[in-house]
Amino acid sequence: MSAPREHFSSKLGFILAAAGSAVGIGNIVGFPVNAAKNGGGAFLLMYAIFVFAICLPIMMAEMAVGRKAAKNPVGAYKALAGENSKWGLAGLLGIITPFMIAVFYTVLTVWIFIYLVMTVTGQLDYLASSQGFGEIINNPYYLFSAMIVVGGLIAVILNFGVKDGIERAARIMMPALFVMLVLLVIFVLTLDNAMSGLQFYLIPDVEKITPAVISGALSQAFFSLSLGMGILITYGSYISKQTDIEGSAKLVAMCDTSVAFIAGLMVLPAIFSFNPNVNPDELSDSSVSMIFVFLPKIFLALQTSVGYFAASAIAGVFFLLVFFAALTSLVSIIEVPVSYFIDERKQSRKGALKTVFISGAVLAVLSSLSFGLSDTLTNLVEYGGKNKSLFDLIIDMFYDTILPLNGLLICLFVTYRWKKHNLNLELSEGNKNFGKSFLAKYVDFSLGTFIPVILALIFINTVAKIYFGYNFFG
Ligand code: PFF
Repeated sequence: MSAPREHFSSKLGFILAAAGSAVGIGNIVGFPVNAAKNGGGAFLLMYAIFVFAICLPIMMAEMAVGRKAAKNPVGAYKALAGENSKWGLAGLLGIITPFMIAVFYTVLTVWIFIYLVMTVTGQLDYLASSQGFGEIINNPYYLFSAMIVVGGLIAVILNFGVKDGIERAARIMMPALFVMLVLLVIFVLTLDNAMSGLQFYLIPDVEKITPAVISGALSQAFFSLSLGMGILITYGSYISKQTDIEGSAKLVAMCDTSVAFIAGLMVLPAIFSFNPNVNPDELSDSSVSMIFVFLPKIFLALQTSVGYFAASAIAGVFFLLVFFAALTSLVSIIEVPVSYFIDERKQSRKGALKTVFISGAVLAVLSSLSFGLSDTLTNLVEYGGKNKSLFDLIIDMFYDTILPLNGLLICLFVTYRWKKHNLNLELSEGNKNFGKSFLAKYVDFSLGTFIPVILALIFINTVAKIYFGYNFFG
């Protein structure tokens, strides 16, 4: 017999772990940059509405499916739909997607770790120089040593299991992250011109809101809350029947949105202090690498007011913060395939970790070679009229395309296969009055109607845009 399933020690432990998954590079770097270029306060407002109106019901559905089945996504779909059901395929996507997202997220985390080390060793000026980023990401020595450190840290955390590994790491890193973030905000707000950044961030510019921005905000919210990735199914499988899913999901969503909001309070004023005549459209190349080029420049510019040492210290705290956020997110993504190998392939935790790490490391190494080190991987394929590297391909396929599809599948699954009264019953465990609440009715209605329609539209639009170069939104 296999060992009994591990559980989080308490509701708080679960919330911290789920928030640890949700709060990541997406919140601290992605959200502020997106908000800056897409209408500041208007983007924020729209984002918050999406988080609660669209993402929250999906989040609750994922947690409920996970807890009911007490399994990884493949096991969960099968347990609720029948062993031979085709829904097992949706579960399989729920394993492959986080695995592939972990690959590109690992590359980003590795870069952040290199940035952290270089900043605290006094090389912020090099990072901010025109050749810094390009040289760093193509330096095999940096890449592989950083990958070993990042991989080692994740392996140690996951090896300790759910309660002593994942939960403990989140209990330490999440509060530390929050304190560092708040300290940075306080500091940045004292800089010259910070107030114009704040104004820009908080005063909505409704004209900037276009259909493309709306769909971007929704994708950002979806990714940020770690939806469509089997994570909340997996974490849901580690919670007890006494845990109130509605309350926990609301807290996770609030925590995630607050961190994104607060990160905006630091990044935007810092950008304006760096260049008071900033034209936010200059930020508008949303490619991940642009952000890595831009961030050190912002921090270095602070040296005119606080000196090189303090500017480096601030940058160091910032990269440490992003590193913590990225680690707790990576841990959660990797736990999904690990739980699959434990449940379905009857491997030990150590064995499952070995399988996932070896295959993941090979792909992560290959992806990190696709920025120039290997010609073949850098120009791997061509579609939608563009040359794409292995890294681009993984982001296009798994982040942009399959993520909304997974969201759509879970909505269809709970509505048409598992049935909503079962969802309702599960959500009422640990929350006796849930069934009578307004939210219960809203979840019941939205998951079977407009949420899947919106996700289907996003999916179709993405496929048209990425693979056929056709943009419905002009
Ligand atoms: N939610 C994380 C972020 O916003 O950076 C990223 C993430 C974590 C995405 C875990 C997917 C995931 F499975």
